[in-house]
Amino acid sequence: MSKPKVTLTRRWPASVEAILQDEFDVTFNKDDKPLTLAQLHTALQNSDAVCPTVSDKIDAKVLGAADIKATLLASYGVGYNHIDMGAAQAASLSVTNTPGVLTDCTADLAITLMLMCARRAGEGERELRAGQWTGWRPTHMMGRSLKGKTLGLVGMGRIAHATAKRAAHGFGMNIIYYNPRPAKAENLADIKAVKCNGIDEVLAQADFISLHCPGSPETHHLINESALSKMKPSAFLINTARGDVVQESALIKALRNQQIAGAGLDVFEFEPNISADLMQLNNAVLLPHLGSATEETRIAMGLRVVDNLRAYFSGNTPPDKLI
Ligand code: DGY
Repeated sequence: MSKPKVTLTRRWPASVEAILQDEFDVTFNKDDKPLTLAQLHTALQNSDAVCPTVSDKIDAKVLGAADIKATLLASYGVGYNHIDMGAAQAASLSVTNTPGVLTDCTADLAITLMLMCARRAGEGERELRAGQWTGWRPTHMMGRSLKGKTLGLVGMGRIAHATAKRAAHGFGMNIIYYNPRPAKAENLADIKAVKCNGIDEVLAQADFISLHCPGSPETHHLINESALSKMKPSAFLINTARGDVVQESALIKALRNQQIAGAGLDVFEFEPNISADLMQLNNAVLLPHLGSATEETRIAMGLRVVDNLRAYFSGNTPPDKLI
């Protein structure tokens, strides 16, 4: 029996590509360059499953290709706002993602950003590498402590919970949160989190605001000029969720005017393009979408896609089926 044809849009960890090669008829992206619209069309027309990543925009234009052969989009990543689900459904495609396996890794990065902001780590490294450090002194580059501060979470899913656990148990922080729906009991275990009635309460009370909501039309520019104006001048904004949850132009203004203390960003509204104005700001810590970027996690994400492909092509429901 012929093997199902599978296309990967980017390079994946070698050990996962080797497993896929054994079990499927795979088209790899050896150059690791993002596929063009025409290449995505070809992939959908020639493969049984296409495996995009969170940086491939799979919109109605892509999914409107004539003669689509693929019946599965097995996405490599937990977020799926890069896929137009309505258009996928209209094209009779099933969609899967990779939840769970990147929770701890992303929570680690949210804490990394909090610490980098609070302890001015990026600023300090820039000073040292520029040869401008003149030696230890009592008033040099003083930051803030996390202990006793309030972490405000926007969203209370798995990653928010893992971030809160680290913040509460590792750093002695108090936790408050807002989630539009009642949070699952397992996501509240162990963290003594206080529920807020709206996002404004979180914005007004927290010393660190960490975003953990999905990217969607409802969360687009959730953090805009008005939201930023509700934060304490001493507070930091942390974003490991999706770039367009924050209106970049409004954030730049707030950071430039020191209306808030700083921001730690792993995702950006127009990534991979970063505004030159943002790059100038010393009170912004900027990372290139590294939330899930550990070898262990990226392999686990790939294996999760393998599980979804195996289940789908053996006629079973994939474990991470979204539609
Ligand atoms: C995701 O999976 O949604 C992340 O943004 C990339 O790991």
